[in-house]
Amino acid sequence: MQEAKMLEFSEKGDERGHLVIVEGMQDIPFDIKRVFYIYGSDRDVIRGRHANRKTEFVLINVAGTSKVKVHYPNGNECIFVLNKPHTGIYIPKMVWKDMYDFSEDSVLLVLASEHYDASEYVRDYDEYLKEIVLL
Ligand code: TYD
Repeated sequence: MQEAKMLEFSEKGDERGHLVIVEGMQDIPFDIKRVFYIYGSDRDVIRGRHANRKTEFVLINVAGTSKVKVHYPNGNECIFVLNKPHTGIYIPKMVWKDMYDFSEDSVLLVLASEHYDASEYVRDYDEYLKEIVLL
């Protein structure tokens, strides 16, 4: 099974400010079919709590900070801190994830490899554990 990993994007900053470019199949390992962003989540909110059967994601805090905890079926967990607009986390399919500890100014941009399909989300952790052993 593939693991989540941090990605670093190049910055084209000059005296006018910063510019970060993220291109599908170049800076991130898939074609981008969907973009959404999450903001206004309180610090004590936990989002996510799901795995995806088909979709891969890249999460970027374009403003503010948040954390992402990924759970692997062998019980391992990994916490990523998103606190720079030029870094992101790549999340492969069938990785259980939580997003939490949002700063007040957090804007979490999410790039997805697939269009939205509620049926490819696994939202029950026991179901996730059942499906993962079959992979
Ligand atoms: P949800 O998956 O619970 O958000 P998060 O992963 O941040 O915890 O999505 C919240 C609601 O928005 C839910 O009713 C499904 C809907 N939704 C869409 O319709 N399209 C999308 O692309 C996403 C991500 C969510």
